[in-house]
Amino acid sequence: MSVEIKTIDTLLEERRTFPPTAEFQRRARVTDDSLYRAAEADPEGFWAEQARRYISWYKPFDRVLEWNLPFATWFGGGRMNVSYNCLDRHVEAGRGDKVAYHWEAEPLGETRTITYRDLLDEVCRFANALRALGVKKGDRVGIYMPMIPELPVAMLACARIGAPHSVVFGGFSAEAVRDRMNDAEAVLLITADEGWRRGNAVPLKRNVDEAVERAPSIRNVVVVRRTGNEVPMRERRDLWYHDVIHDQPTTCEPEQMESEDLLFTLYTSGTTAKPKGIKHTTAGYHLYTMFTHDYVFDIQPDTVYWCAADIGWVTGHSYIVYGPLGNGVTSVMYEGTPDYPNKDRWWSIIAKHGVTVLYCAPTAIRTFMKWGPEHPAQHDLSSLRLLGTVGEPINPEAWIWYREHIGGNRTPVVDTWWQTETGGIMIAPLPGVTTLKPGSATKPLPGISAAVVDEQGQIIKVGGGYAALLKPWPGMLRGIWGDDERYKQTYWARFGDKYFAGDGARIDDDGDFWFMGRVDDVMNVAGHRISTTEVESALVDHPAVAEAAVVAKSDAETGQAISAFVTLRGGYDESTELIVELRGHVAKLIGPIARPKWIAFTPDLPKTRSGKIMRRLLRDIAENRQLGDTTTLADAGIVADLQRRSQEEQDKEA
Ligand code: WTA
Repeated sequence: MSVEIKTIDTLLEERRTFPPTAEFQRRARVTDDSLYRAAEADPEGFWAEQARRYISWYKPFDRVLEWNLPFATWFGGGRMNVSYNCLDRHVEAGRGDKVAYHWEAEPLGETRTITYRDLLDEVCRFANALRALGVKKGDRVGIYMPMIPELPVAMLACARIGAPHSVVFGGFSAEAVRDRMNDAEAVLLITADEGWRRGNAVPLKRNVDEAVERAPSIRNVVVVRRTGNEVPMRERRDLWYHDVIHDQPTTCEPEQMESEDLLFTLYTSGTTAKPKGIKHTTAGYHLYTMFTHDYVFDIQPDTVYWCAADIGWVTGHSYIVYGPLGNGVTSVMYEGTPDYPNKDRWWSIIAKHGVTVLYCAPTAIRTFMKWGPEHPAQHDLSSLRLLGTVGEPINPEAWIWYREHIGGNRTPVVDTWWQTETGGIMIAPLPGVTTLKPGSATKPLPGISAAVVDEQGQIIKVGGGYAALLKPWPGMLRGIWGDDERYKQTYWARFGDKYFAGDGARIDDDGDFWFMGRVDDVMNVAGHRISTTEVESALVDHPAVAEAAVVAKSDAETGQAISAFVTLRGGYDESTELIVELRGHVAKLIGPIARPKWIAFTPDLPKTRSGKIMRRLLRDIAENRQLGDTTTLADAGIVADLQRRSQEEQDKEA
C-alpha cells in the first residue's frame, strides 16, 4: 500500500517561498547551518554539550545516551532539579526582578505582574506546604486548574519536591479527572473554586468533588480561590491554597533528582478509549524544551513571548512553563478566550505588552480569518518579530493570512510539528536560517533524525508516506505509565527500529516535510489515497470558506466517499449553487477524484476544548451512526444541528 497524495503545495497557484529577511537576520541567534552540522557530526557529543550549557547540575552526568530499543535513558549519573533551573539560578544571577509572567485575567482590567523572584517565593511556599501535607518524592499529584499563575506554581512546586504531576485540562469532565487520578494513584489534587471562560464560571471544584468520590488514593484537595463564589469544602480533606501557604517560608531546599526520575505524566488519547499516560522524565525533557524554545523562537534578552495554548496540553507544559522559564524569558499568560469581551482581545494584549513572539494553533488563525482582519487592524502589532503555529497542519492560505495580517508582511512564521510524545518541537524552521514554505514544517531540528517511510519502513527520498523518527532524542517519551507493552505496540511495533508517529507526511525534493494529518484521516476513494487535510485546504482556498473539515464516508461504489462540513465567512450565504461551486473548486485544485460527494454547511465545527476538530464525530454524523463519546466536545449544541443538516444534504442527493 503506497500513499499517493497530491501535495498541498500544488494548491498554491503562486508557490511562494520566504527566505529569512536581512532585517530578521540582523538580530537572529543563528543564521547559518553550523548547529545542524555539529549535531550531525557527533549527535551524542552535541546533546552532551547542550546539556552542559542549558542545565545547572548538582552532579554532572557520566553517560549521555543508553539505548535499549525502545527504551532510552539520557544523562545517566547526573542530578538536577527542574524548579531550580527554572527559578533559583535566574534569581542568583541577579535577574530576580525580571518579569516571568505578565498575567492577563479574562475579566478586563485584572492583571498580575510576576517576577522571577515572586515566582520563586511562591513556589517555595507551596512546595513547603505540599511537604507539610505529607507529599513525598515520587508521590503523584493531580492538577486541575484554570489558566491562573497558581497553575505553573503548582507544577514547579511538585518539580521542586520531586512529586510527578499529572495535569488534567480544566475543560475535561469529572470522569476524565477521576480516571486519570486513579490510573496515577495520585495522593493529592490541586484545583480552584471555579475558572472563567467566556464570562461563565466553570465549576472545577464541583467536578473534583464528583471525581474524588471514586478516587480513593486522593487524601487532600487544595483549592485556589479564583472566582470567589462559594463552593462546598469537605472538612479535613479540602484545604484552601491561601491557608496552606500562609505560614510557609519563602525558601525550600529542592530535591536533587536523578536525570531519569519522572517529572510528569500527561494523558493523551490513542486509538482505544483509554487515554495513555505519557511519561516524561527530568533532565532530557527539560533540556529539550529549553533548547527548542531558544532556537525555534530565536529568544533574545528583551523577548516578550506569548504561547496562547492552555497549560493543560503539552504545548503549555513545554512552551509556557518549562522551556520559557528555563530560559529565563518574559512571557504573557492569558486566562480566557480570544473573543472575550471582544474579538480583538488577543491583539490588545499584544499591543499592551509589546509581545515579540506569538505561538498559537492554526485553528485559532482560521477563526481570526473568519472574524476578519479589521480586529487585528485596530491595534499596533509592530512589536511582533516572529510567529509560530502548532497542533495541526496549517493550510497555506491561513499561513499567508497570519503573516500578512498579524505579522505585517514582515515576520517569519515557524510551523512546528511535534507531539505530546516527543516532549518538544521536532520538525520546524530555524527562523534565521530556513527558507519558509507556507504549509510545510520544513526540516528536522539540529540533532533530530526524521524521515518519511513507506509501509515497510523504508525511507522515501521524495514522495508521500508515514512520518518516522530514526534516533532517540532527549525529550522523547520514556513510555506509557503502567503499560510498557502498549508503548511498544503503539510506537515501535510497526517499523521495529523507527518511531511511528501516526502522521502521514510528504517530503519534497528540497527535503522539506509536509504533514498531511493523522494516517487514520487519510481516505481511500476508488483506490486513491486522499488526505482529508488536502481537501480541507482546497475548500478553505475558496473565498467563501472560513473553515472546513473533511471525513470519509463508506460508499458502495468507491469504497469511501468524501464528506465535507463547511463554515462560511461573513457575507456569504448558504446555497445549492455554492455547494456545486465548492465541489468544482476542489475538483479543480486536486482532481475530480477529490470532489466531495456531500457538503453540509455549519455555523461552527465540533471541536474539543483544545480546538481540535472532532473528526470521529463528523464521521459518525456522515455515516448516520449513533454518536460516540461526546464528553470532550466544547459545544454540544453544534452536533445536533449538524446531524440535521447532513441528513438534509444526503436526502437531496438521494
Ligand atoms: C498534529 C501537539 C501538522 C500531528 C504539540 C501530531 C501537526 C499531533 C503539527 C500531536 C504541525 C502537531 N503540522 N500536524 N505543525 N503539530 N500536529 O499530542 O497530527 O496534542 O501527531 O501535540 O498533532 O498532537 P498533540
